[in-house]
Amino acid sequence: MLKPLIAGNWKMNGLTASLQEVEALIEGLQGKDVTADVLICPAATLLDRLTAKTGDSIIETGGQDCHANEKGAHTGDISAEMIADIGGAYVIVGHSERRTDHGETDAMVREKAEAAIRAGLTPIICIGETLEQRKAGQALDVLGQQMGGSIPGGLDGSQFVIAYEPVWAIGTGLTPEAADIKEAHSFMRARLGQSAVKSPDKVRLLYGGSVKPSNATEILSIEDVNGALVGGASLKAQDFLGIIFH
Ligand code: PGA
Repeated sequence: MLKPLIAGNWKMNGLTASLQEVEALIEGLQGKDVTADVLICPAATLLDRLTAKTGDSIIETGGQDCHANEKGAHTGDISAEMIADIGGAYVIVGHSERRTDHGETDAMVREKAEAAIRAGLTPIICIGETLEQRKAGQALDVLGQQMGGSIPGGLDGSQFVIAYEPVWAIGTGLTPEAADIKEAHSFMRARLGQSAVKSPDKVRLLYGGSVKPSNATEILSIEDVNGALVGGASLKAQDFLGIIFH
């Protein structure tokens, strides 16, 4: 049984005042029996302060992206080593918003995932089909291609996480049918089993896309769903707690 991971992706949201939400989150978790790992990936501007605030609480922190290189002339980018340096433990790579906004390809995502491993971080590698691809019956083919192209070779299953995020479900309030999530996750699990990944059963497979307190129980009880990547509902401590304690 894999320990679930409930990961919050704050995206380009959050100012200093948002640190209060983290205080409320710490308070809400204190003394409780928390059966999942809890992670927040804030904007890079908040990562240092947020990581300091989470201190010895169970909350872990991470970045939303990293450059493939360790350092150098890459204005505006941050490296996996920089995230590790301030105490981050994870980094999201290949989120569909980065694939769209910044033209990130599977090969680039794979390099970023390799950079994360090099720095001692756990990459959360995001994949997912568009609505057009789903309607055309290509969803599983797309997932297979993205897995083949984005996952570094030679890894152990405990070294990385995969997040399945149908692009059309992100920020829209729409979610796939439970049967479709189940199909996608069992496809990913089977595909890992045929890959060169060692201990493929140790890879946590997250679902992401409009997860909220009201649908968390159903989604997180689906076979092979080992946690959630949560955008909008991770911004408010009450909502995020509602998902953690679904
Ligand atoms: P959402 O975003 O929960 O707001 O749909 C999920 C994500 O993009 O990680």
